[in-house]
Amino acid sequence: MALAPTILVFDSGLGGLTVLREIVATRPDAHYVYVADDAFFPYGRHGEDQIIARVVPLIGELIAAHTPDLVVIACNTASTLVMSHLRAQYLVPFVGTVPAIKPACAQSKTKRVSVLGTRGTVNREYTKALIRDFAQGCEVTLVGSAELAALAEAALSGVEVSDHDLSAELAPCFIAGSEDHAARTDTVVLACTHYPLLMDRLVRLAPWPVGWIDPAPAIARRVADLLPPPNGETDQAGAEMIFTSRRPHALSRALTPFFGGRIPA
Ligand code: DGL
Repeated sequence: MALAPTILVFDSGLGGLTVLREIVATRPDAHYVYVADDAFFPYGRHGEDQIIARVVPLIGELIAAHTPDLVVIACNTASTLVMSHLRAQYLVPFVGTVPAIKPACAQSKTKRVSVLGTRGTVNREYTKALIRDFAQGCEVTLVGSAELAALAEAALSGVEVSDHDLSAELAPCFIAGSEDHAARTDTVVLACTHYPLLMDRLVRLAPWPVGWIDPAPAIARRVADLLPPPNGETDQAGAEMIFTSRRPHALSRALTPFFGGRIPA
């Protein structure tokens, strides 16, 4: 492995930046390649076979082009489908992002948890199996959002997104239960990496306070576990941002916080 490991972080768009941010904080010494498959965004609207047929060969091309030491699929909509295919075809270690149902159910006091993801993610057999295996007696409500990932992209790009539109996507997560609040939803899993981009607004617009489960810190810990420890060099290696559409983007300034302050090439 080179002195600075190369970590490739992949998503359908800008949502994986919320995962990248945590990984960069854990491994500031690494070289980062962030790939947004915006030519195929949003993944939530594609069928399962289409996503597998798109992502598996594309990751192969990216591995050939960038020789990463580790690949993070920072997308629930893809990870709930493609991880076994990727591991079967490529030797590079992979880390995926799947709905954090186990920790959410472990921390819920009212035993009522909602999972907010793309329609694809909440319909997956993978997600249903996580609920069967890890609900720990909780009632889990699956909420498939058609628009929230696109709204998060728009907001990050500086487009006005109304509270009304965000509240409409959020509302089905909040189940009131009994009047004394003992059975109302107290935990919401952010099962799409785009949603933490809207964190401040989700907290403000929630009908009542809940615990929001963002798996990004856990993913960053997993990445750190899989890489050899830093060799003592504290200098940051470079970073690259690739959009598969090759459309020109004027986002550099908005992106630097996610890259730990560096401006991606
Ligand atoms: N960021 C993606 C996820 O975690 C999906 C957004 C989309 O492309 O629909 O599921």
